[in-house]
Amino acid sequence: MDCRPHHSCKQAETSLIVMRSFSAFLIAVIITASRSTSWASVTIPLTKLERAGSYLQGSAHADRARASFLKTTSGPKTIPATNLVYIQYTTSVGVGCPPTYYNLIVDTGSSNTFVGTGKKYVRTSTSVPTGQNVTVNYGSGFFSGIEYNDTVTLAAGFVIANQSIGDALKFANFDGVDGIIGVGPVDLTQDTLFPDTDTLIPTIMDNALKQGLIKQRIFGISFAPATTSNDTNGAITYGGIDPAFYTGNITYAPVTKIHPAAHYWGINVTDVTYGTHTVIPRSTAGIVDAGTSLVVLADDFFFRYLQAIPGAYLDVNNTGLIVIPPSSVAGMQPLNFTINGRAFSMDTAAQLIPLNENAIWGIETGVQYGVITNLGADSGRGSDFILGQKFMEKYYVVFDCQSQTRWLCVH
Ligand SMILES: *[C@@H]1O[C@H](CO)[C@@H](O)[C@H](O)[C@H]1NC(C)=O
Ligand SMILES: *[C@@H]1O[C@H](CO)[C@@H](O)[C@H](O)[C@H]1NC(C)=O
Ligand SMILES: *[C@@H]1O[C@H](CO)[C@@H](O)[C@H](O)[C@H]1NC(C)=O
Ligand SMILES: *[C@@H]1O[C@H](CO)[C@@H](O)[C@H](O)[C@H]1NC(C)=O
Ligand SMILES: *[C@@H]1O[C@H](CO)[C@@H](O)[C@H](O)[C@H]1NC(C)=O
Ligand SMILES: *[C@@H]1O[C@H](CO)[C@@H](O)[C@H](O)[C@H]1NC(C)=O
Repeated sequence: MDCRPHHSCKQAETSLIVMRSFSAFLIAVIITASRSTSWASVTIPLTKLERAGSYLQGSAHADRARASFLKTTSGPKTIPATNLVYIQYTTSVGVGCPPTYYNLIVDTGSSNTFVGTGKKYVRTSTSVPTGQNVTVNYGSGFFSGIEYNDTVTLAAGFVIANQSIGDALKFANFDGVDGIIGVGPVDLTQDTLFPDTDTLIPTIMDNALKQGLIKQRIFGISFAPATTSNDTNGAITYGGIDPAFYTGNITYAPVTKIHPAAHYWGINVTDVTYGTHTVIPRSTAGIVDAGTSLVVLADDFFFRYLQAIPGAYLDVNNTGLIVIPPSSVAGMQPLNFTINGRAFSMDTAAQLIPLNENAIWGIETGVQYGVITNLGADSGRGSDFILGQKFMEKYYVVFDCQSQTRWLCVH
């Protein structure tokens, strides 16, 4: 049957040790490997989900809630997935044998995988309770339930055995999706189990590597602006980088040393400009997060951006989004983030919500809203920006936890 494990534990452990012993060469290996298809990797299509309903208006507020949760959390603790956003990427994941398929949010900002918030968990002979309860709080929601080991099918022939997953029995703010596939660092699973609060839950990346499904602890995510609703225009590649999704050179950035961003896929930007205006004047840590819809800046940075656009204001009491007068749109400038010496630019279109999407966002028609929003707190707290989905729609992002130092690479 399709969902049988393909490798024994013994083989997998051997391959893990081999990988570790080569850790000194890993960065070189990655660069070479990016042009090769000789190692195991698989690319899975992602569906961009557009949700209907009034909660769509909460997107900017949900992103802020996620951000503030992250900032007030100390140590390696589980963080937020944005559940109230307009657009999120989901991927179809099979659980059990035979598998039941669930649409799970792809979240780089959390690390637990669970089902049950939409379609209920269907237990099969491969479903083994681990004896643990699980609870994860996100910035704008939560789930709690029972932890199981089960067989997880990411794609045909790409099947993980004994993957620990949650069955969500109570939850809030997961409208329209069945759960999350958490591809953040494993430390974020700490304190999510009970009674074994100190036990980490190996992520799907950990198990895929251990069971020999992938040879490198790397995944790449490709997002793109949607042209239709429910657009399957994104892709996640487990186990490597897919050159089909980018051109030119990849820029590597080490995961930042600044906390709390360091617990996530956090990086430094050295400066951010909007045209000739300085938005972020110094090296500052923040995160890249597929589970956040917008691009979020600490308030002091955000207001520099806002003030550089004539007549723009923050619709603070309603949508939480920036409103840009039509007369200012033509004069908008690129918003450039410098990451490891290279500018990553969001052009005018990338900074705006397309007017023909307003109805689906649940925001006033004919009003020009933007995707850059504020954190709700000034900078200086160790995570001062989030490059969310709207940034990732412009650039391919590679999440590389191969070596001891994690790297994040964008093109
Ligand atoms: C769950 O799977 C892990 C390996 O991924 C294993 O170590 C653990 O013993 C399993 N737990 C149960 C209850 O089968
Ligand atoms: C999964 O766990 C079972 C026991 O719970 C064990 O017999 C089996 O070898 C494990 N398979 C893998 C691939 O870890
Ligand atoms: C990529 O890097 C190589 C070597 O540093 C350089 O020669 C080349 O011009 C770069 N290509 C692009 C598109 O930047
Ligand atoms: C990131 O920036 C901080 C200053 O904000 C600096 O201390 C640190 O060395 C930089 N690099 C890394 C990888 O954290
Ligand atoms: C937002 O609401 C507060 C309190 O009701 C009010 O004082 C403020 O003027 C409102 N701001 C805008 C921009 O409408
Ligand atoms: C911002 O990036 C764009 C595109 O790379 C570039 O043309 C522009 O010169 C950059 N602006 C600044 C101020 O660096």
